Amino acid sequence: MTSLIMIFGATGDLAKRKLFPSLYRLFEKGKLNKFAVVGVARRSLSTEEFQHSVKDSVLSALGKKDRIDEFISHFYYQSHDVSDSNSYAMLKNLADEIDERYQLEGNRIFYLAMAPEFFGTIALHLKSDKLTEVKGYKRLVIEKPFGHDLASAIELNKQIRSAFLEKEVYRIDHYLGKEMVRNIEVIRFANAIFEPLWNNRYISNIQITSSEVLGVEERGRYYETSGALRDMLQNHMMQMVALLAMEPPINLSTDEIRSEKVRVFRALRTVEGEQVNEYFVRGQYGEGTVEDVQVPAYREETMVDKESNTETFVAGKIMIDNFRWAGVPFYIRTGKRMSTKSTKIVIQFKDIPMNLYYQTEKMLNPNLLVIHIQPEEGITLHLNAKKAGGHLDAQEVKLSFANTGIHAMNTPEGYEKLLLDCMRGDATNFTHWDEVAYSWSFVDKISAVWESTKADYFPNYQSGTMGPKEVDELLEKDGYFWWPVTDLEVDICK
Ligand code: BG6
Repeated sequence: MTSLIMIFGATGDLAKRKLFPSLYRLFEKGKLNKFAVVGVARRSLSTEEFQHSVKDSVLSALGKKDRIDEFISHFYYQSHDVSDSNSYAMLKNLADEIDERYQLEGNRIFYLAMAPEFFGTIALHLKSDKLTEVKGYKRLVIEKPFGHDLASAIELNKQIRSAFLEKEVYRIDHYLGKEMVRNIEVIRFANAIFEPLWNNRYISNIQITSSEVLGVEERGRYYETSGALRDMLQNHMMQMVALLAMEPPINLSTDEIRSEKVRVFRALRTVEGEQVNEYFVRGQYGEGTVEDVQVPAYREETMVDKESNTETFVAGKIMIDNFRWAGVPFYIRTGKRMSTKSTKIVIQFKDIPMNLYYQTEKMLNPNLLVIHIQPEEGITLHLNAKKAGGHLDAQEVKLSFANTGIHAMNTPEGYEKLLLDCMRGDATNFTHWDEVAYSWSFVDKISAVWESTKADYFPNYQSGTMGPKEVDELLEKDGYFWWPVTDLEVDICK
């Protein structure tokens, strides 16, 4: 790949933790033929100092690396004021000079890895100060959040689209870079045994859990304006729902896949007004013990209001009112400071019509297909089979596939895949404006209710648990229960 990559926010956490190590891995694998990176941030640094910090972040993420000095020699730095045209003029000169030196064919990627309030301003300046006037391609990679609600997302989109075409905008949802999230469509569409069952005749409910043990860490200021609803549900959780629910695309082109996902969003049942608290549960963590460490309540975190109304947990029932999914609840839950770090999808099939193998002590388990997104990666299919021995007793058995050992080590990081996709011009695993707009309009109706009513019962779950008790009631009302994520481990086969 041949490109000049400009990273805005190059001294920030995301650049250090994810982008530089991912670029190194691409470099090491020979995927970056001709490239240079210009780091842009407010702080004043020399190129040597910047190269040094890139080196530190790569080495601390990946360990000793032989070609690190060669890698960092491709990095440049420009201190920058996002709203000053002179800064952009200097940046343009530097970019043109580097482009010439490395023969980058005028290909330019602008990666905005910084506070979202500057996204629009930067996009407008890139155009008015002529950084987008290039011979090759120009692409804008933009981190979430894409707006705060539908209205602000529309405004931001307008600014961005005045400088870039929709097909030049790569809106990152890093869950779409995860190996097993990408695997969802292959599991569904490359197996004759699943697709015929993938509907309301055979599936009773789908449960998606994304639990974290971390709290808000240093991000209190951002999180106070976001909460779990905007931070996780509007994007990552909704994307997983869309991939699980979409119709088979007629081919794997970006447009076809996106339009199938959009059709799912269009079929989402609107939940508003009084229904919100019937379909959704919010929570906020109190103090507690997580992985043997005593941790403070959310309201005690840095930059968080002592009486904060922000949810750090959300669970809900999402209904997709179309022919395939009518009547099948998609239950989702996600939160911070929960008991375990785990992202799993459980597809629960309907019970068999009649149980011939009824055992007095236990009913047969329904069949489950579990997709393990992280930390372990794999699939397990839970079946019932005969217990060894004389009687016809049934017991649960699991068929497992796990990306372990060498496979897991070779699994590229989400960001590595997404960066490569962007350089290749493949936008399939980035979110299209239509997806963003539909999911905001779904989420806006929930936040409208939650923001206008104070949750005086906050905090309502202890750190180190799986959320407030109402979350269980959400499923119990429908006759289901959450499959405990810790009981669904994928077997490690070496
Ligand atoms: C980010 C959220 O998008 O996803 C974070 O802003 C969250 O709050 C993170 O911690 C979770 O990602 P992962 O890959 O660790 O599940």
